[in-house]
Amino acid sequence: MAIQWSGLGPELLLRLVRDSEQPLRSQLETGLRDAIRDGRLQPGERLPSSRELARELEVSRGLVQECYGQLLSEGYLDSHVGSATRVAARAYPAASPAPRPPKAAPAPRLIADFRSGVPDLASFPRGDWVWAMREACREVATAELDYGDPRGSEALREVLAGYLRRVRAAAAGPEDLIVCTGFAQGLNLVLQVLSQLGVGRVAFEDPGYGDDETSTSVRSAAQPVRVPVDELGVDVAALAASGARAVVVTPAHQSPTGVVLAAARRHELVEWASRHDGYIVEDDYDSEFRYDREPVGVLQGIAPDRVFTVGTVSKALAPSIRLGWVLAPPALSGAVAEAKLLSDRGTSGLDQLALAALLRSGRYDRHLRKMRGVYARRRAALIEALERHAPGVRLTGLAAGFHAVAHLPEGADEDAVVADALRRSVGLYGMAPFRAARVPAPPQLVLGFGLTGERAIEAGIAAVADLLR
Ligand SMILES: Cc1ncc(COP(=O)(O)O)c(C=O)c1O
Repeated sequence: MAIQWSGLGPELLLRLVRDSEQPLRSQLETGLRDAIRDGRLQPGERLPSSRELARELEVSRGLVQECYGQLLSEGYLDSHVGSATRVAARAYPAASPAPRPPKAAPAPRLIADFRSGVPDLASFPRGDWVWAMREACREVATAELDYGDPRGSEALREVLAGYLRRVRAAAAGPEDLIVCTGFAQGLNLVLQVLSQLGVGRVAFEDPGYGDDETSTSVRSAAQPVRVPVDELGVDVAALAASGARAVVVTPAHQSPTGVVLAAARRHELVEWASRHDGYIVEDDYDSEFRYDREPVGVLQGIAPDRVFTVGTVSKALAPSIRLGWVLAPPALSGAVAEAKLLSDRGTSGLDQLALAALLRSGRYDRHLRKMRGVYARRRAALIEALERHAPGVRLTGLAAGFHAVAHLPEGADEDAVVADALRRSVGLYGMAPFRAARVPAPPQLVLGFGLTGERAIEAGIAAVADLLR
């Protein structure tokens, strides 16, 4: 390899590789630009004349002139008639790069991590997704690669509407579906539309969205209020008293208590909405996983004019896919589409076509069937492990999803249990971060089993049993 070094001072060695595929001019340009950016060449510093540098590097003078010309036009260099070419006085990205924050210590390896809200990431159907992406690329019409309908791909909305009618008893038509990037965006779009309608106060369940989600859920509402949840679901009388005109609920499987909204409450809630000209935002996040019976249909099916149902693939596939949908009341679906257009012009078209292919081919259903089995076995392992190692700890909220609530003995200190468990390499999570007011409340743990297999569940519970008893 023939390498030519310039003599622009010992610390500024410009290195030209003669037999590189990168043309010499581009090498010189990049070398000078990098030297200015990282401060080896300082503002105001004089550069050699094109003749000098050309001689030094054994390249043509024209090549150096072209290169200087390029950097002059980019603003890295300055030159005035009759004087030398210099590094422009304006400083380029900090001469010394901004100090990087110290690397966080690696998270300790846990025997078992009972974090909730995350599906089994290791079970993501990689093969099916590769197949679906390939299908999407193969099938996509050239015109579909353009900006399209902000509601999303027609092919996906058609197949999704059919799926939601079949599986969730939704009153769904493709024209009222808006594909978005998950629940977080779906909720934001709906809140924007509600705010345009003059809906100020929006109620959220308590306990409800935890610390992480608070930033995207509760905080995205202009005037959030909290309404309590009891063993029948959201307290509709408290909702009516709150003065809210919209409420965000998790009827199929309350997050995080796990209760299913009782039939009577479903009707009360819908009645509340029609009496108050109100709206219900239904977070249908993990309804695919119900173990004791068929899942109840969405609320939207009984009040399509009052309910926005927001769905996501974050639990069924993986959060990083960032695909979800809003099924909006027909009178408002245009406004949601408009909000989506203004927000980002639409969700990735190829990802949408891939999801459509998964749904159409039956691979989505097949994956869900498999995962229902996986989570049902983990749920049974959790019940057994608690019965064996910490009898007396009551578990609730097990009808669906992949988390449950463990009730600690009265007087137990939730935070201390969590901290002690971590010292034993077990990730436990308290209910406190899901509560609005940090007032004394019964000590509880939210135990997720999306990330933890059966053996780890047994080992993890055994390791912390004395803390739970
Ligand atoms: C209650 C609830 N709804 C919805 C979601 C999914 O949000 P997204 O679709 O933005 O990933 C989560 C994720 O943890 C959740 O806990």
